[in-house]
Amino acid sequence: MGGAVLLAQVQQAAENLSIFNPASPPANSIRDLAVVVLAITGGIFLIVEVVLIYSIIKFRRRPAANANEPPQIYGSHPIEVAWTAAPALICFVLMLVVARTEWEVRPRTPPPKEGDNALHVTVVGRQWWWEYRYEWWNGRKLNVITANELHIPSCDPDAEGVQRPIYLKLLSADVCHSYWVPRLAGKTDLIPGKTNTMWFQTAEQGLFLGQCAEFCGTQHAKMLLRVYVDAPADFEKWLANEEKDARTPTDETLKRGEAAFMSQSCVNCHRIGGTPAKGTYAPDLTHLMSRQTLASGIVPNTKEFLRQWVVDPQKLKPRCLMPAFGLSDGDVDAIVAYLRSLE
Ligand code: CUA
Repeated sequence: MGGAVLLAQVQQAAENLSIFNPASPPANSIRDLAVVVLAITGGIFLIVEVVLIYSIIKFRRRPAANANEPPQIYGSHPIEVAWTAAPALICFVLMLVVARTEWEVRPRTPPPKEGDNALHVTVVGRQWWWEYRYEWWNGRKLNVITANELHIPSCDPDAEGVQRPIYLKLLSADVCHSYWVPRLAGKTDLIPGKTNTMWFQTAEQGLFLGQCAEFCGTQHAKMLLRVYVDAPADFEKWLANEEKDARTPTDETLKRGEAAFMSQSCVNCHRIGGTPAKGTYAPDLTHLMSRQTLASGIVPNTKEFLRQWVVDPQKLKPRCLMPAFGLSDGDVDAIVAYLRSLE
């Protein structure tokens, strides 16, 4: 995947990043709520501004001879009741529509069971990336871990009701984060020590972008979200590949890269399925090359950026938890070649 293609994709998706362009039932409810609230508050704004401008012009300062002073009112029960009751009523109506929307978007995550057609994924927010643990799909227990790019199946556009729903369980490993893909659902926080849930489903295939929406440290702005909605068959293909162990290196360079990787402290944090690398502290690299971006969506997953990352992650993401290891050029080349073979 070239950088230019990726950039074009990102631009295209960014155009659709608006909450006014929903692609999922919870996002629909939120758009409807936003329209109602904007209409009510916009109406109030208009009325107040019209009366204000009218008063400014009509009662502007004039020479004493032409004075046009409005009637002076000292204490009026009807007026005081009116300007207390009207805002209270408006607030009450707003509260009701908000409560209705809260009820609509509220996840009702059923326990996974055979043939339920649901995808259950646990999302762990970390400084500053997303871990995805695929737990259940179609009532089948999964053991797939990936990072930063969530793949989900699209649902059938003609089907009614909840169908092929995506249930997310949201956890945090460190500080508060917030999961926000505007076209799919509202924000839900990931809070240490607490489990939150959310759900969505969409018939629209393609890439949906989002962003961590809770300040979580210096690199909060570089904690991007990417959700790929695949055709069900493509999703199955992707999942089947993710369930496999990593490819075994075939040629000398790759073998040297694997050996260098395994001899460094890389293995303490990263996991590569089917190898001694079993770290759970950093992104799972088993199928690194199935991802289009690196470091939580901040750069395309190209050889150059991967090399930069391996040499010194602090340049791309200052204060991230991976240090520069001071590897020799030869080791860097071999490790990058090995990582790029992990499809
Ligand atoms: Cu994670 Cu902001």
